[in-house]
Amino acid sequence: MTPKQIGLVGTTWDKVVPIAETAADLFYGKLFELDPTLKPMFKNDLKQQGRKLMTMINTVVKSLDNLDALVPQIKASGARHVAYGVKDEHYNTVAQALLWTLAQGLGDAFTDEVKEAWTAAYTILSETMIAGAKDAA
Ligand code: HEM
Repeated sequence: MTPKQIGLVGTTWDKVVPIAETAADLFYGKLFELDPTLKPMFKNDLKQQGRKLMTMINTVVKSLDNLDALVPQIKASGARHVAYGVKDEHYNTVAQALLWTLAQGLGDAFTDEVKEAWTAAYTILSETMIAGAKDAA
């Protein structure tokens, strides 16, 4: 990612943080609309799950200029996701739901440039999680 992209992800994320709970609700609504078969994989409280998801995204967003230190944690999360039944292709569906949610939350601020920056960040995150899943297999 370019420093500009890292900056764009950071500033737009700051606008989502105050509405994180709504954003999480929108995200899961969209995710299950895109693929209803994912719903039964979520066995625990979705509100709590939404908070965990937002916390992890927050940690990654705040560390984009130095992700190396986080790689072991991200890989470990990817390995845990295998146990939840998550397959590689599900990461694409989550990407779509996440980008859609950001578009809702940011409105006009969700420019093409912002979308590209978020796509780059999500790609790094998901590829690292998938690598962690492979390492563990
Ligand atoms: C970059 C992408 C993702 C992030 C940041 C993320 C984040 C998280 C976090 C923080 C947790 C809490 C438990 C843990 O850390 O092990 C979790 C659990 C979970 N995630 Fe993800 N996740 C991602 C992708 C996915 C994908 C692609 C799926 C596929 C549907 C998925 C399904 C689940 C499920 C089923 C759980 C367990 C829920 C439960 O206990 O009810 N996640 N995720």
